[in-house]
Amino acid sequence: MSNKKRVFSGVQPSGAVTLGNYLGAFKGWADRQHEKVNFFCLVDLHSLTVPQEPAELRANTRTLAALLLACGLSPDKCTLFVQSHVVAHAEACWLLNCVTPLGWLQRMTQYKDKSAKQESVFTGLLDYPVLMAGDILLYDTDEVPVGDDQRQHVELARDIAQSFNSRYETEFFVVPQAVIPEVGARVMGLDDPTSKMSKSSAHIRGHAVKLLDDPKEILRSFKRAKTDSGNEIRFSDDPEKAGVNNLLGIYKVLTEKSNSEVESDFADARGYGDLKTRVAEVVIAALEPIQARYHEIMSDPGELDRILAVGAQQAAAVSMPKIEEMKRMMGLVLPK
Ligand code: TYM
Repeated sequence: MSNKKRVFSGVQPSGAVTLGNYLGAFKGWADRQHEKVNFFCLVDLHSLTVPQEPAELRANTRTLAALLLACGLSPDKCTLFVQSHVVAHAEACWLLNCVTPLGWLQRMTQYKDKSAKQESVFTGLLDYPVLMAGDILLYDTDEVPVGDDQRQHVELARDIAQSFNSRYETEFFVVPQAVIPEVGARVMGLDDPTSKMSKSSAHIRGHAVKLLDDPKEILRSFKRAKTDSGNEIRFSDDPEKAGVNNLLGIYKVLTEKSNSEVESDFADARGYGDLKTRVAEVVIAALEPIQARYHEIMSDPGELDRILAVGAQQAAAVSMPKIEEMKRMMGLVLPK
């Protein structure tokens, strides 16, 4: 067995993929894929926790798979698969439900936020973090690279792992660690730099940059970005300057420069208009090759299906023995 660290992460195939997803997650997954044993999952079962248009969900799943490959994930270095193709995930969720106190789920901030916005709340929304814990724990995951908004979910996966291990007096589950990037972990909305850029608000004009937006649209979104009434271009914790800070953060992740290098790049800028245009240009330059690769990949749907089928086989080879052992430990009789 390889002694490389095991990495698992996931993304929901619902809505349009944003620059936040890319900077907070996909870029880091691709940049570090050589160092680790990687599992990246299109978590379609998670998407079902809020109402979906079936045809749209199917199309989005394929689009997202192609986008992840276009962002640089290599099928030689990563297992890329669709969650519902590997039955161990739904099974793990059920088994872990039976050892997870309800109070742990009711306290989750994403559940509280999302359920407050819905007229009727389905059980899946409450149970979402248990399905996610199953995803992670099935693969003996050491590291879970995610954006800041998933920190609490990974904490819960740790709690579930520890509670299972102590209940059955074993070290059966590896206790995973969230790996959150120093910059880019929380890309904010361009229209409102006090709230996270999110897929679910991506339809709101000026909120998000989507990975498949054309250059004109990207420039337009940045030009409309909310800033403050001043003119100082520097990193700052001041809530007043959250807009400028967000733009500089985006520039910083993409150029891989230090804070002082970024600030000196803008020393000659003529106001916020200039800042917005230059950040837009860096984003456009980063997304252009991704978009070109995306279109190439989408032109060969057979190859995309093949990659996902191989991914599902590889993922099942790891997670099916794990779920069998889990069932045995919990007292279920395995079929002969
Ligand atoms: P999802 O689909 O909402 O987002 C995928 C990844 O993108 C990150 N992200 C962001 N990072 C920075 N700034 C933003 N504005 C931003 N928006 C999204 C997310 O933090 C995430 O890393 N619950 C997960 C999916 C999941 C999962 C898992 C993740 C299911 N099972 C197991 C890790 C391990 C989710 O909804 O991500």
